[in-house]
Amino acid sequence: MSTEQRIQLRQLMLDHSPHMMLLVDPSDLRIIVANKVAEQVLGYTAAQLTEMLVTDIESSLQDVFYWEDVRGGHFQDIDAQEGEYQRADGTQIMVMKSLRVLRHEDRWLILILARDARQERKVEDVLEQTLSQLRTTLEATGNGILVIDWHNKIASMNRQFSEMWHIPDAFLRNGNDAAILEFLTENVVELEVCRERLQQVSDPHEALDLLHLRDGRVFECRSRPQFLGERIIGRVFGFLDITEREHTEHALRESRDQLENRVHERTLALQMANITLESEKARQSELIRRLGEAQNQLLQSEKMASIGVLAAGVAHEINNPVGFVNSNLSSLQRYMQSLMRLLDAYEAREMHLPDQDRGELNALRKEIDADYLREDLGSLLTESMDGLDRIKRIVQDMKDFSHVGGGDVLVANVETGLDSTLNVVWNELKYKAEVIKEYGGVPDIECIPSQLNQVFMNLLVNAAHAIESRGRITVRTSYENEMVTVLVSDTGSGIAAENLGRIFEPFFTTKPVGKGTGLGLSLSYSIVQKHGGRIEVDSEIGKGTTFRVILPRQMSPAIAENDVVN
Ligand SMILES: Nc1ncnc2c1ncn2[C@@H]1O[C@H](COP(=O)(O)OP(=O)(O)OP(=O)(O)O)[C@@H](O)[C@H]1O
Ligand SMILES: [Mg+2]
Repeated sequence: MSTEQRIQLRQLMLDHSPHMMLLVDPSDLRIIVANKVAEQVLGYTAAQLTEMLVTDIESSLQDVFYWEDVRGGHFQDIDAQEGEYQRADGTQIMVMKSLRVLRHEDRWLILILARDARQERKVEDVLEQTLSQLRTTLEATGNGILVIDWHNKIASMNRQFSEMWHIPDAFLRNGNDAAILEFLTENVVELEVCRERLQQVSDPHEALDLLHLRDGRVFECRSRPQFLGERIIGRVFGFLDITEREHTEHALRESRDQLENRVHERTLALQMANITLESEKARQSELIRRLGEAQNQLLQSEKMASIGVLAAGVAHEINNPVGFVNSNLSSLQRYMQSLMRLLDAYEAREMHLPDQDRGELNALRKEIDADYLREDLGSLLTESMDGLDRIKRIVQDMKDFSHVGGGDVLVANVETGLDSTLNVVWNELKYKAEVIKEYGGVPDIECIPSQLNQVFMNLLVNAAHAIESRGRITVRTSYENEMVTVLVSDTGSGIAAENLGRIFEPFFTTKPVGKGTGLGLSLSYSIVQKHGGRIEVDSEIGKGTTFRVILPRQMSPAIAENDVVN
């Protein structure tokens, strides 16, 4: 390659430099040479430029003074200095320039290297603006923000951060990063967690830590890596004081717990109260039931007692006259036999009498029908004695019925009881019904006879009441499996289905006011129940009703001992 060619290439290199290049003669400040870039940026031709002084381009006051010094022989290198260049079109541009002092063939030359800095300036402005925005944002956020760089130095922090942590001014003034980080760590209960988190700048994950400060406050710390491209260059920490929130949450939790406890306690107390109430209610209804029963029994036993007293009174009254009539009749019978013997003796001696006397006696005999009298007198007396026996039996029945024996448990026969009861209520039955007795000859049972008689009487009277004009009442006894059954069946009106379930209720009656108390069956029911037995009923409207009293042959010892129904 020739020298000529080399010079051309060098020129090419200069023309493609990013810098404007101006070579200035310090003695007269003329521009000796300018490269292509200088022509393009400044808008002069090469010829124009070599006609000009450097101060035509560098025209600011500061530059003019500088170049005056240069002309006076005072010059030196300048590195990267900002300046303004005058262009051909009158506009000015920002440049970044450097000056080099050169020695060429015993003379001084000054080379200016200048770069158009307009674009850079713009970028810088934008950057400045962004940074300012960023700074404002950083300060405006409620969080305390701390940025730690790759070398564990504090890259930045906002005021909120230093204030919330109460970082001592001395640390901030000295910019003592290690002291600040240690200060953070030492103020936290979770000392190790905090230290590790602050040191592990290279951790690629986001993290959320809860830090309890020694002064009682609680900070929430969110941290995340700071990337430059793919590379982690630091870590950003955001601190939020959540003490208030924690306290509120805690108080809320506490009051919720308290509330739950209170509700629980109240529920328990209510349940207890409910249980007490329920048992009290049960106790009361049991009391009411027992009261009803007692009242029931009282009423019925009063009724029975008055009937009993009446019957006993009547029986007693009849007993006296029956007694003396009975003894008189016996005497009468004896006297009559003696008189008859006397009469026979007289008749045997009649033939010794004069005829006239005999005739008169015969006439008298005929007149009074003496033969018939003699015959009838005996049967009259026998009949009277029979009648008297019947009266005595009825009186006995009345005594039996009115339980002169009291309410003692005895071994007795229900058929006997039925008979005496039938006798007592006979008057009530005889106009209404034909009574058919079908006794099975049942064995004696352990019972309180006077009470069973009350049951039989209730059933018989009910049967008679159910028959409107005339009907039939069947009384049947039977015995099976140690159980004696008394059946009282009638051909009466029957019981309506809707009433069948209620007839044993105290005071349930379909009879007119004053006629029935509605206590008969309820009392009968409790009497039979206390004998360890049961009452069953079948009924058909219009056909009749059958009551069945089923009694055990032996009362259970407890019942027998505890003479409940009186
Ligand atoms: N044999 C029967 N036929 C038809 N209905 C009957 C018969 N026995 C009872 N009842 C019905 O059952 C009701 C209740 O009978 P219960 O003996 O308890 O009371 P009452 O006879 O009405 O009154 P009380 O017996 O106190 O005089 C009667 O009013 C009647 O309606
Ligand atoms: Mg009755």
